[in-house]
Amino acid sequence: MLSAKTIEIIKSTAPIVEQTGPNLTAHFYERMFAGNPELKNIFNMSNQRNGDQREALFNAIVAYAKNIDNVSALVGAVEKIAHKHTSFQITKQQYDIVGQHLIGTIDELLAPGEEVLAAWAEAYGVLANIFIEREEQLYQSNENLEGGWRGLRDFKLVEKKLESEHICSFVFEPVDGGTVSPFKPGQYVGIYINSDSFEFQEIRQYSLSSSVQTDSYRISIKREPDGKVSNYLHDELSIGDTVQLTSPAGDFFLDVDNTTPVVLVSAGVGLTPTLSMLETLNQHDAPVTWAHATENGTQHAFKDHINRLTANHANIDAFVWYNQPTKNDVEGADYHFTGLIDLHEIKDAVIQAGAQVYFCGPVGFMQHIARQLLELGLNSEQMHYECFGPHKVI
Ligand SMILES: Cc1cc2nc3c(=O)[nH]c(=O)nc-3n(C[C@H](O)[C@H](O)[C@H](O)COP(=O)(O)OP(=O)(O)OC[C@H]3O[C@@H](n4cnc5c(N)ncnc54)[C@H](O)[C@@H]3O)c2cc1C
Ligand code: HEM
Repeated sequence: MLSAKTIEIIKSTAPIVEQTGPNLTAHFYERMFAGNPELKNIFNMSNQRNGDQREALFNAIVAYAKNIDNVSALVGAVEKIAHKHTSFQITKQQYDIVGQHLIGTIDELLAPGEEVLAAWAEAYGVLANIFIEREEQLYQSNENLEGGWRGLRDFKLVEKKLESEHICSFVFEPVDGGTVSPFKPGQYVGIYINSDSFEFQEIRQYSLSSSVQTDSYRISIKREPDGKVSNYLHDELSIGDTVQLTSPAGDFFLDVDNTTPVVLVSAGVGLTPTLSMLETLNQHDAPVTWAHATENGTQHAFKDHINRLTANHANIDAFVWYNQPTKNDVEGADYHFTGLIDLHEIKDAVIQAGAQVYFCGPVGFMQHIARQLLELGLNSEQMHYECFGPHKVI
């Protein structure tokens, strides 16, 4: 428990820290990577360049400081971050390192004096412990699952299949020949790449793109322009090669009973978590609606697979939008609508009592979807979404 004095100091200094925002985060990361360069093996240095992670960490600490007398308000945020942290296997010692650089940065930029620094160090320690405890629970619960493990496990690539011009699926089996732990459809794994092609170890998250299998995991990856890991996996990883994976994590997952109508909405490679859900829902009693947006036929991943699922299950309906169909694309067969996705066009499928909507894609797309869902009368409890990068409130 924090003392009343500490709480008062944090509350009165949080606005000053908030105003110092971008300078503080820039200084913090420079200080940390200079003092502890080994952390470049943990952080995505491409995210560092575009500032997203800096913003995420800083916003989390300011939100905590502002809610210092009501930490329970942050429970949802802690859960999401703790899941993400487990895919990086963050250690207690690393929490101490981050804490030292945070306090060092506040001292160097704001020189607020010993009393204020001590209060921030104490408050950071409390926050760090909340994460350390929750992350430990997640490690333990996965380890206790059938096929579960703790830490990193070696997996070998057993199948590689191009699903569209830019998206390729990869199926991995454990090198030790054992089974893999079940996951909740929508969750992701952390993948660790140690290759001579890279200066540092690279860690990324990929959503599991199939229903639960006992002996393998499938992920499906879009080649990003200048993206390090996606291009490496597309171009260099061959059948039999190994990578390391962390156990499945994430707080975006299918959570419905058999009578709940489900609407799955995705754009581009955002279909990976929703495809895992769709495959899982093939025995569902209530209606399931698949709404997917992509550029055109060459970019349309899993088209035949989804057509088969729809044909074999009367409760599944699929609707596809092509932003700019080519002359080879056939309306009615390959796609149903042209332009950006508009859920008003399938409103009867969306407006069903108690429907739950799961969506994933670029942030702008998800804002567009959330707006349409609100217009159609759905509420925020019916909406669940995943960002393929630092989480954003849409
Ligand atoms: C929960 C979660 C689930 C995910 N699931 C999937 C999934 O199922 N499938 C999938 O494909 N992806 C998924 N992602 C995204 C994935 O983790 C990676 O972010 C993505 O593959 C890009 O990684 P990369 O190493 O190829 O690109 P990075 O090297 O990380 O680069 C990221 C971006 O930065 C840009 N960039 C790189 N270098 C520079 C530079 N010098 N200057 C400016 N910009 C630069 C690149 O153009 C690229 O667009 C998921 C992410 C999360 C968080
Ligand atoms: C109390 C302390 C911490 C807070 C409040 C915090 C907060 C955050 C937040 C908000 C995110 C973004 C999550 C998301 O939306 O996806 C994040 C991601 C991350 N955190 Fe933490 N974090 C803390 C400690 C640490 C520590 C100790 C490390 C390791 C040294 C660490 C490493 C990372 C990494 C690697 C990411 C992913 C960012 C990327 O892609 O580069 N964090 N953290």
